[in-house]
Amino acid sequence: MDKYAEQTQQEFEGWEDFFHKPVDEKVKYFKRDGRIFDVIYAQQFDRPFLDHLCNLAEMIRHLARTKVGQSKLRHLLPHKRAMLYFVQPSTRTFLSFQNACHILGLTVSEIRGTSTSSEVKGESPEDTIRTFASYVNLIISRHPEAGFAEKTAWVLNQTERPVPVLNGGSGPDQHPTQALLDIYTLEREFRTIGGLDGKKIAMVGDLKRGRTVRSLSYLMKNYKNVELVYVAPQVFKMKDDIKEFLNKHNIPFKETEDFESIMPEVDAIYMTRIQNEYAADPTSEAETFPGFHLKTKHMSMIQTHCAILHPLPRRYEIDVRIDKDPRAAYWRQERCGMWIRAALIAYIFRVDGGITEEFN
Ligand code: NCD
Repeated sequence: MDKYAEQTQQEFEGWEDFFHKPVDEKVKYFKRDGRIFDVIYAQQFDRPFLDHLCNLAEMIRHLARTKVGQSKLRHLLPHKRAMLYFVQPSTRTFLSFQNACHILGLTVSEIRGTSTSSEVKGESPEDTIRTFASYVNLIISRHPEAGFAEKTAWVLNQTERPVPVLNGGSGPDQHPTQALLDIYTLEREFRTIGGLDGKKIAMVGDLKRGRTVRSLSYLMKNYKNVELVYVAPQVFKMKDDIKEFLNKHNIPFKETEDFESIMPEVDAIYMTRIQNEYAADPTSEAETFPGFHLKTKHMSMIQTHCAILHPLPRRYEIDVRIDKDPRAAYWRQERCGMWIRAALIAYIFRVDGGITEEFN
């Protein structure tokens, strides 16, 4: 049996009003004392914050190379507990958050499916999240519904025990911590050629339902002279809300279905898979769109410094033979996720000063 009762629908006074406000107005609600408290949307991050987190991630990575350094890191947050509420499939985001917690000494609990929680008894997701807040100091969630993390953070912030909520992916909408690790990876891959400023980045694949490319696009406003190229089949074109955002912030972008034609001009290629879990019948989408795959023959067409990224998991978008090419950054990117998530958690609990101090 899957569940005994349908989920209880609860009305929260003021939620509809809040939900329909522009994000620019909402971000202050997720801050405390001038610092980010809940991580819900990529639009919350500005350049000083991004630079700070990338530096912090480098320092954590450096400390973690030795036993002494690892022990220092583990002693930063042994008095804190985190809850991983992941009710949508996840390998990387779950494991990287879990290991980021371990690096800093946090204790972690987890729920990985609604079938093992009281949601089968008809409990509302809001009550379920409030329950976590009774036991832990941090909630990290992944949910199939757009806006889920936003609503739970909003509800919790009105209770007597608000704990920070980190959005580990909310449906086809946003994946802000993936965007953080993507930025960190790009900055690292370009460290000898001036970082991300001034670079041209192609995003390829299902741009319509891929939340990673949406969140990453928002972050481009923090970098100087960046250009974007959206490469997608007609059915999976980037949605208008993101294009309007880019226009508003004067970020040049173009759209094409001809992947090969733009290969020689870009500094990075961000590949994505077709997100058919969001289709009414996922099995009806068998098409793999080979024109949007990166093949070995393309490696001589791209620049010698071109970084190839992919949030993973991959299907057929990148030929495995490309993994051996030094420009293939996706496995390094995966590891970057653990370090930057550790940096984010250190920032949230305000122990980032304890890390930077080690390097003064
Ligand atoms: C991505 C996601 O879940 O949105 N994966 C991830 O978090 N690394 C991308 C994907 O599933 O295609």
